[in-house]
Parts: sequence; structure tokens; C-alpha cells
Amino acid sequence: MNIKKNDHRYIANTYNRFPVVIKYGKGSFVYDENGKEYIDLSGGIAVNTFGFADQTWIDAITNQLQQIQHTSNLYYTEPAVKLAEMLCKKTNMQKVFFSNSGAEANECAIKVARKYAADLKGKDYYTIITLENSFHGRTITTLAATGQSDFHQDFTPLTSGFVYARANNFSDIEKLAEQNQCAAIMLEVIQGEGGVNPLNQEYLHQVADFCVNNNLLLITDEVQTGNGRTGELFGYMNFGLKPDIVTTAKGLGGGLPLGATILGEKVQNTLTPGTHGSTFGGNPVCCAGAINILQRIDDKLLTEVKHKSQFVISSLHNSKGIKSVTGLGLMLGIETERNHNDVIRECLEQGILVISAKNKVRLLPALNIPQEVLGTAINIIKNVCAKTDLEKMN
Ligand SMILES: Cc1ncc(COP(=O)(O)O)c(C=O)c1O
Repeated sequence: MNIKKNDHRYIANTYNRFPVVIKYGKGSFVYDENGKEYIDLSGGIAVNTFGFADQTWIDAITNQLQQIQHTSNLYYTEPAVKLAEMLCKKTNMQKVFFSNSGAEANECAIKVARKYAADLKGKDYYTIITLENSFHGRTITTLAATGQSDFHQDFTPLTSGFVYARANNFSDIEKLAEQNQCAAIMLEVIQGEGGVNPLNQEYLHQVADFCVNNNLLLITDEVQTGNGRTGELFGYMNFGLKPDIVTTAKGLGGGLPLGATILGEKVQNTLTPGTHGSTFGGNPVCCAGAINILQRIDDKLLTEVKHKSQFVISSLHNSKGIKSVTGLGLMLGIETERNHNDVIRECLEQGILVISAKNKVRLLPALNIPQEVLGTAINIIKNVCAKTDLEKMN
């Protein structure tokens, strides 16, 4: 079968794919249909927490698969309960709603914020302040939450009730909260799709204090920054925040679809029977895999993530053709002198998978990528970034 041709013929045309058919992978290596080997620094966009074909994760999910693959949420199952307990204990939060993706985790957070505010302050208090340049998903409501007009065009009218503040501009938050009847503020502590931009610590604390003082919920979208990616279990933990709602997905499932909306004390009882639900949410196979993943994101692994991060940052700092490196842990963005798409294409040719975030080259490797494999990949990226126009022509 001509996979590329049939993909274009039969699959909706929503992705600009790289010209590679991925066939199989092991650890941080992946192989195309011709047997060419690549080092993967894209991690399925922050999904493959422990790389490809990770044996203990496979054991956890196949073991569960042989017991029960799905029941519906009309019955109790152990894996979802166990996973929810782990998430609550690790975050000091109270309850979890499971879904299947980041967008759905955010949809749930938005519904919880609206209902909490309606119950407490009245139905008009539904506005949620999000940030310019944010990304919260592709459903009509999470697109509305996304503060990037490029994503909005062609799909209006979007869900109403979202206003956008400039990131790191606290007076915008004050102004918007004064002008609107608000339920919550929702943000990514590092804007991922927006270009791997961490928010300022001082700003984050101003926002968090503002939420407490003005009876607004603080929602952190940890879909990309969650599950060890930044060197802490969740990104907000790097900044000492205490959000009311944390959403996550991607790396929690490790390659199976799973979203989670973690609810703090204030909102733990906001959802009641019939107010929200999902056919697949909390699927026992996905949850069994996630338990395995969460068990392994321990202090040792998080320390290793921080060390590898330092290694990448110091290797690339002041390197020829590299303007800056942003991000935390193994969620890093490289600002290059060369066009980032040229760098990404050339890395692919040289056997390194990296992706973009706005005008940057984004790295999201498996958290357990071996140091020497990471070193090899970073050397290649450095050389590609350092190439002058003359060298490129030869
Ligand atoms: C911060 C953030 N929120 C939400 C989403 C949407 O997640 P999903 O594609 O699983 O719906 C993404 C995806 O990139 C994301 O990075």
C-alpha cells in the first residue's frame, strides 16, 4: 500500500505531516518504513513519557486488557480509582474527572468553573480570563479559550465568555476582571504551542493572589507541562502555586488517550450526577497504563529530567546559530538564526525528530532518554543550527 498517497486520499487534510512513515520504535529510537533510524526528541508531542514500546507500561496495559477492556461508567473499576487516588495524593487535591484528551480535560474545567461561579455568585459570572498566545484545545469551547485569533477564524461564532489578557501583564488581569463578571483565570505556566514561553514567577503569584482575593478559580492547563515534563510532577509546582483546578492529558496516558481534570477543595463537589460524563473516560486499560507511568515519575526521575535539561541548555547556550533556549525540564524551545523549519527538516534528514512551536525548534523527548542518546542528538542539532548559508549551499 502507498501509505502517503492513501493518507492524502482518505484522511481529512488537517495535518502537514513530515514525509516519513513511522513503522516501529524502541525507547527513544524510531524506525521508518525503509528501516532508517531516528532519535526521537518529539515524544509524540509530550505523550510518550517513557518512549516507545516501554516494557513495564506494555505489561500493565496488557495485563489489564486481559481482565476487562471497558465497562462504561455505570460500574466501579479499580484502575480509575487507584489512579485518581494517586493524582489526588500527589497534588494535595480532592477529586478527579477522567476524559480522553487535553481538550476534554479543559472542557470539564470550564464547566466546573461556570457551575461553581453560578452556584456561588450567580449565573452571570461565567467569564473566564485566559491569556493571549495560549493554547487550550480544538473543540469550539477550548478554541474560544485559546487566545490566538488565527485558530478562531473560519469557526465563529465560538462559545462566548472568554476574554484574553496579555501574558505577564497583571494590569490586564485587573482590568478584565473589573470589566467582566468572572468565574476563573486559566493559564499554562509555560505556553507550549505558543512558543515554549514560561510565565514570570512574580506575575503568576500576582495572578494566584488575585484569584484568592477576588473569589476567582485558578485553572492551570497542564496538558503539555504535566506528568514530569518540566522536572516537577506538574508545571505549577515549579512556581509554588496552588491551583483550584489542574487539567492534564498527553504524558499521563503515555500513548493511550487519557485526560484528567483534578479538582481542589473548593470545587470538589461542584459536579453532581448527570452534570458531566464520558463514555470512555477512565477506561481501565488507559488508567492501568497511567498508574504505571505515575508510579515511575518519582524524585529520582524528576532529578534526572532537571539534569538533562541543564545539559541541553548549557550545550546550546552561546552555540553558533542559536539565539536562545526557553522552557523548563524536557520541554524546551530553541530560537535559531536559521529558519526553524529548515532546521527541523535538516534534523529529520540527519535522523533526529524535532518539532516546531511558533518560530522555535521544540524538544519534548522521553523523560528516560539515555544521556548518551540525548548527547548525540544535541550535537547534530547544534551542527545543523551552526551551518552558514555557504555551507547549506554545498
Ligand atoms: C496546553 C494544551 N492544552 C490543551 C491541548 C489539547 O490537547 P488534546 O490535543 O489532547 O485535545 C494541548 C495540545 O497540544 C496543549 O498543549
